[in-house]
Amino acid sequence: MALDKNFLWGGATAANQVEGGVLAGGRKLSNIDLLPCGEDRKAVGLGEMEMLEWREDHYYPAKEAIDMYHRYLDDIQLFAEMGFKVYRMSLSWSRIFPNGDELEPNEEGLVFYETIFQELKRHNIEPLVTIAHFDVPVHLIKEYGGWRSRKLVKFYSHYAETVLKRFKGYVKYWLTINEINILLHQPFVGGGIIFREGDNKEEVKYQAAHHQLVASALATKMAHEVDPENQVGCMLAGGSHYPYTCRPEDYQEAIKRDREGYFFIDVQARGKYPNYALKKFEQERLRIQMEAGDEEILASAPVDFVSFSYYCSRTVSAHAEDYQQATGNIFASIKNEHLPSTEWGWQIDPLGLRNSLNQLYDRYQKPLFIVENGLGAVDVPDENGYVADDYRIDYLKQHIEAFKAAVEIDGVELLGYTTWGCIDLVAASTGQMSKRYGFIYVDRDDQGNGTMKRTKKKSFDWYKQVIASNGEQL
Ligand code: BG6
Repeated sequence: MALDKNFLWGGATAANQVEGGVLAGGRKLSNIDLLPCGEDRKAVGLGEMEMLEWREDHYYPAKEAIDMYHRYLDDIQLFAEMGFKVYRMSLSWSRIFPNGDELEPNEEGLVFYETIFQELKRHNIEPLVTIAHFDVPVHLIKEYGGWRSRKLVKFYSHYAETVLKRFKGYVKYWLTINEINILLHQPFVGGGIIFREGDNKEEVKYQAAHHQLVASALATKMAHEVDPENQVGCMLAGGSHYPYTCRPEDYQEAIKRDREGYFFIDVQARGKYPNYALKKFEQERLRIQMEAGDEEILASAPVDFVSFSYYCSRTVSAHAEDYQQATGNIFASIKNEHLPSTEWGWQIDPLGLRNSLNQLYDRYQKPLFIVENGLGAVDVPDENGYVADDYRIDYLKQHIEAFKAAVEIDGVELLGYTTWGCIDLVAASTGQMSKRYGFIYVDRDDQGNGTMKRTKKKSFDWYKQVIASNGEQL
């Protein structure tokens, strides 16, 4: 069985990492605009350091990003040239509701996205739209404390309803919240949360998670009401955990760490809290406020498909001393000596993708969608500006072979594949431009210098042929 002829091949970006124009067209700041490059980025992302205004002594890469705000049409033209069937993008919440709590949306923001959808339609490219990709308007953080407040359910729902209604007919595939489990690892990035003195951090994070889960269910419900054609997905920062050794306690640790992510998807796909989570709340005395009716809301709107990002697998142990050889940057992981690593220490594991697909399909029995996968690498253009990125082609080829095996040999249902950063963009974890994922090179460096000129890399023509052959010619 080959891939379905309607398999959705394409690429993915997020508003905050490509658009720039953060104060243009009535937009106001959101959390992610305030993540600086450099040392303080980590503490700000963790919610350990408050930085709700730009500071003179820091550089904020999201301010201009790759200026897609002004260059969208040309960039979509390039995606079309590669033969994209789908383009995953996100809406900037604060472009549509600059403060987040207004009743009326910012028309200029809506028109901006409408133009993009019209252009995609012209090229027969299906949009896959993330409603919130690491995006909380700063006013909602200052005024309400971000997703720690129940009020965010109402504001997000109003935002979701507005875009679902306005873009009906243009958009059919929706994702409610990007990498929803990142909230536990980067609370400011995932939820606009800044910790206060005396906070029980675990309680604050899981309370915010409850709010996001209720909001996500309400959006899913609404999406189906607005247009029964709509297909709504949840989105997991994927990649399974391996036990460092075959000691049973290491395997138990791997199960526990997988569950930190599955927790969200269990609720979104099955419509109720899993027992292990309720037990955790009880045993750790986390007082999670749930309102009457929340259980019904969660039960009423399971998602239609499960999407996830996949860059690497992770290795964990029950023994702290094993972490001396740690790697990666968001999730703590022990270096796996059986796998090569990227320049950023992310371990390359194509078979891990096939295994993840099988685990997710066994668990949820719903169609899957790989909405992020790719290699962040340093590209060095030659004297003509050309990048021969054979290493990227090799990485993608191995991962495509892996997901094809999951479909063709294991029988997993897979809707599509969107590579991350189909055009070079700002890296979420580090803020660097030098961590490049694209088929298209963007002339911009880590300090914000460069012409923003776009140049096709070697992988551009390679991916074009992959799509044209529906994954047969790798
Ligand atoms: C995911 C995010 O975490 O991974 C993206 O959804 C992000 O926003 C991507 O860019 C890759 O991570 P990074 O840090 O290399 O940009």
